[in-house]
Amino acid sequence: MTSYPAAMILASSPPTTAFVRAPSPRLAEAELTFLERQDVDVERAGAQHAGYRDLLLRLGLEVVAFPEAPDQPDGVFVEDVVVVVDDAAILTRPGAPSRRGEVETVRADLVRRGFTVHALRQPATLDGGDVLQVGDTMYVGRTRRTNDGGAAQLARLVAPLGRRVVRVDVTGALHLKTAVTALPDGTFVALPDWFDSGAVRGDVVVVPEPTGADVLLVGETVVVAASAARAAALIREHGFRVESVDISEFEKCEAGVTCLSVLTRR
Ligand code: GLY
Repeated sequence: MTSYPAAMILASSPPTTAFVRAPSPRLAEAELTFLERQDVDVERAGAQHAGYRDLLLRLGLEVVAFPEAPDQPDGVFVEDVVVVVDDAAILTRPGAPSRRGEVETVRADLVRRGFTVHALRQPATLDGGDVLQVGDTMYVGRTRRTNDGGAAQLARLVAPLGRRVVRVDVTGALHLKTAVTALPDGTFVALPDWFDSGAVRGDVVVVPEPTGADVLLVGETVVVAASAARAAALIREHGFRVESVDISEFEKCEAGVTCLSVLTRR
């Protein structure tokens, strides 16, 4: 297995804070691209969201809730509206027009928290779910949601912070992070049929379930969806501590564990 020096993988110390948002009562109307619509139990989603928040608390994070956005069915997927790099918070311009109203609802909390806030501008489109940060590299999916203009504007904003953007074609999934994320040592966990795996630098572990490639790192702990038990076992076999969390109602809305939070060091 490839071993990168820890400094290459972790841009800095582990996260201290998780920004989240309560699910909307209209969650069942969330955007769908690759999935068929299924019944969503909003009450159960609320309980699963509480379980997710509790897990982040147990892992030592302060959990901060963005303002509720009851009229935004996808508003719970906060990852898509802001990309955080060090002390910069970059508000995105989501690819789905229905989601653009979510963006400004998070600005005030980010300013209050001391972030320098930037914003992507038309004609850029970019969802945070298409941005995978591994060390100093920011892999940006080229998807139905994120265009070249979005990647280019992001690249200009993060270059002074020492980050480089690498674009990755994604064909089989909504977001890059549906198809690939990385473990704490930089090994990728992935569904290689869904993206151009030649674009990522490092070893790739193929996961067995369609929900197993989207993992959330909280320091050295790897958070995996409960629906991906075989991926969780595989990641444990690679020597990592794994926590599973049931997010089945959000999975029906085409989301994974990373979608539900933005982890920061502020
Ligand atoms: N429902 C997740 C998204 O389409 O953005």
